[in-house]
Amino acid sequence: VPVLASSSDDFLQCLSTQVPSQLVLTPTSPSFKPLLVSSIRNARFVAPATARPPLCIVTPTDASHVQAAVRCGRAHGVRLRVRSGGHDNEGLSYLSQRPEVFAVLDLAKLHAVRVDPREATAWVDSGATVGELYYAVGKAAPGLGFPAGVCPTVGVGGQFSGGGQGLMMRMYGLASDNIIDASIVDAHGNLLPNKKAMGDSLFWAIRGGGGGSFGIVLSFKLRLVAVPPKVTYLSVTKTMEQDAVDAVTKWQTVAPALPDDLSVRVVVQQRQANFQSLYLGRCSQVVSTLRDRFPELGVTSADCREMTWLQYVAYIFFGDAIDTTPLDVLLLNRTMPIGPFLKNRSDYVKKALTNNTWHKIFTWPSGAAQGELILEPHGGRMAKIADGDTPFPHRSGVLYNIQYVQFWNGNTAAGNTSSTPDWINTMYDYMAPFVTKNPRAAYANYRDLDLGVNKVVGGVSTYKSGKVWGERYFGGNFRRLAMTKRKVDPTDYFRNEQSVPPLTLIR
Ligand code: FDA
Repeated sequence: VPVLASSSDDFLQCLSTQVPSQLVLTPTSPSFKPLLVSSIRNARFVAPATARPPLCIVTPTDASHVQAAVRCGRAHGVRLRVRSGGHDNEGLSYLSQRPEVFAVLDLAKLHAVRVDPREATAWVDSGATVGELYYAVGKAAPGLGFPAGVCPTVGVGGQFSGGGQGLMMRMYGLASDNIIDASIVDAHGNLLPNKKAMGDSLFWAIRGGGGGSFGIVLSFKLRLVAVPPKVTYLSVTKTMEQDAVDAVTKWQTVAPALPDDLSVRVVVQQRQANFQSLYLGRCSQVVSTLRDRFPELGVTSADCREMTWLQYVAYIFFGDAIDTTPLDVLLLNRTMPIGPFLKNRSDYVKKALTNNTWHKIFTWPSGAAQGELILEPHGGRMAKIADGDTPFPHRSGVLYNIQYVQFWNGNTAAGNTSSTPDWINTMYDYMAPFVTKNPRAAYANYRDLDLGVNKVVGGVSTYKSGKVWGERYFGGNFRRLAMTKRKVDPTDYFRNEQSVPPLTLIR
């Protein structure tokens, strides 16, 4: 495999003949830094001491600009990092830990959503945020919705490439389970406008096999799902004095077995459990179901809020502010504050933890930093999809997913070296006996470089190094992903610290 010899000047020169100059920003431009940080949601990546910034940021407004970036990149030894919403938990869409010359392709300007209410489908450009998608669907097709994540500022491109879980997944599966077609620019710069052009294995791989490995997805065609005129959102918080530990212990087996149209997730933080629930129907029905199946929660109709599905997707993020703010607040995707320093890890649970274990978790000393566990119930539709139908393998038998999140404050000045406080790693170590093993599974969209990073040998990421983290995200599907990679990008042009490596016979 030829190692890419890079020439930054030749790359920029090549781009200048095919992409309008105002769409290519280099560090000398005053707009470069604001654009680079515009979608960063984690203060860890604002001015990291070790990671390298890009040579330039390209902001395509047309598929041909994406193709040009790939062709010029290959010709002149410059790699690309693709950014849709910029929420990658390890900043891989815009920073590199490696001494490689790379450009960022920021897709924010490719964010159109075209809804077909009659067909109950939508084409969404991958630079759109989940909030933009929800807004377009809710406005154009009341009665339809889409099952993706909770936070509206996340990008479609990254999230749908790696799964996309939210409170409708028990009814309808992940966002990636509802992708019915796509268009992509491949590793040679060819535009493959649909699944027929890309072939079965590539179309399989891009629906859950993680972003940044197989090509640049320009748009996805989605199957929209039915939502009733009113849904019910319900939030109940329990302290330890109100038997939060017992309630969470019970929740572990109750939540995955509830009717598919009812999801209850839990946020455990500071000795409290906040139960957040979405029901695709009216308040009276969900109160009666939960009183019957989960009396420990003690819900009453006063805990309910009935609203349209579109109001709900705004409410769960913006809260009561939506009473006084128009719903187009969902479109304000690039104007959010950066937020604190963050580190995320994840686990899957197949066997309920004991009450004692939960007691220990609730009373864990968290020190100066804050930590939380977000528990997302599986079951329902999630358990009915076979492990190999899509690259996402965490299906039948999974009770719930855990996301550990640690927040802390630090200094975002240049050369920041703030290291992750202890809570998250000691908690993660403590949890080892209670979660899935061999391998200990993790959710690809909660990217975690502590699970392992690729080694590059002879210009190509090795399968052996990728397997270490890859089987944790993708189980037995990792090998098939690596075979697909060999087929579509054997020289490993699209790569990062945790991209799927090509499965070669020698390494
Ligand atoms: P970003 O642009 O950083 O891309 C992530 C990865 O995908 C990178 O490797 C990137 O190169 C690649 N990529 C991006 N666009 C691509 C494209 N068009 N083609 C090919 N590759 C592409 N998850 C979830 O399932 N449910 C949830 O509710 C949430 N909530 C949530 C909230 C917050 C605040 C954060 C920070 C994260 C989440 N997530 C989540 C996780 C989220 O789904 C995950 O980080 C996604 O990868 C982010 O996608 P973006 O496009 O925003 O990221």
